[in-house]
Amino acid sequence: MAIDPAQAVLTIDLDALAGNYRRLRREAPGSEVAGVVKADGYGLGALEVAGALEQAGCRRFFVAHLEEGRALGARLPDATIFVLNGLPGDGEEALRARLIPVLNHPGELARYAALARRLGQRLPAALQIDTGMCRLGFAPAELELLDRSQLEPLELVLVMSHLAVAEEPDNPLNQLQRERFEALRRLLPPAPASLANSSGIFLGQACHFDLCRPGVALYGVNPTPGRANPMAPVVTLEAPVLQVHEVRAPGSVGYGATWRTAAGARIATVPVGYADGYLRAASGAASARIGGWSVPLAGRVSMDLLSLDVSALPPEAVRPGIMVTLIGGPDGVDELAATAGTIGYEVLTRLGSRFARRYIPPGLP
Ligand SMILES: Cc1ncc(COP(=O)(O)O)c(C=O)c1O
Repeated sequence: MAIDPAQAVLTIDLDALAGNYRRLRREAPGSEVAGVVKADGYGLGALEVAGALEQAGCRRFFVAHLEEGRALGARLPDATIFVLNGLPGDGEEALRARLIPVLNHPGELARYAALARRLGQRLPAALQIDTGMCRLGFAPAELELLDRSQLEPLELVLVMSHLAVAEEPDNPLNQLQRERFEALRRLLPPAPASLANSSGIFLGQACHFDLCRPGVALYGVNPTPGRANPMAPVVTLEAPVLQVHEVRAPGSVGYGATWRTAAGARIATVPVGYADGYLRAASGAASARIGGWSVPLAGRVSMDLLSLDVSALPPEAVRPGIMVTLIGGPDGVDELAATAGTIGYEVLTRLGSRFARRYIPPGLP
């Protein structure tokens, strides 16, 4: 794709992503590690991401929706793909696309079992148990009441649950959920088990079970907040300077006139705004990088543009066309998220469609 010189460029390092996958495998050596690629691979391109993961040895993937699974299955015909958000319709579409539904409540189980009986085939299915999130999954009471013969038409290939506070290792809910999971899965026929997301992998072996389901750590976000990030950064966002203002008289920058400038200040304008997923809540607080210099955002992020106070830089360092790093290095996804009062997941999944995307291919393992 030709890159417009006035366009922002999002670089996605698939080699770093593959390295992160291998790092997670070392962290959970007794367990298989899947890839969670829902929401278009956390905004980075599910097909590209999953292709790189498959090359690194990943065989099982999780998506949220049927359509996400269908697109992925067309690209990776040998992969096993689970659909987390449950069973659409009677399950025929999922079956036709060779997707494995995660059954989240008795109604879904009944529908899929009915389809299996009608077709005279044992259909592979996963089942989710709610151990403390109250989001998706069979409630403990529903499992206790479950007549196991209802599962007979199905092949239970995975029993899973999801941790609510895995990024807080000292939170007692982790152990409680693990214990509930251990107890409740015994009410089901024996099947491989899965509990850990990215942060769950770093809670230690007791949480690993047979299959781990990391998402965000693959994409470079720190799964161990408060400690050094064990993952390599995957995303860099760069954009060219469009215009540099030499401020001649005191004034202000941007909507709301919230950033005051003195005479002699220099303000650079860059073509990235909140419509591109650069969070408006980072206004006047985040920083970016030009060459080796850190420069603060000046005033509010607008829809398609943001401004940087480059007064401290030598004039020759900031000209139209010079690239600014908005996400990368010390201004990574986690740092931007913290500045904007959100989480790395939200920064990643909002990265917009107007950027030119450049993928660094995975190298050799
Ligand atoms: C059920 C389930 N498993 C695994 C994941 C991956 O979680 P993370 O991105 O924290 O690794 C998610 C993501 O939200 C999820 O909903």
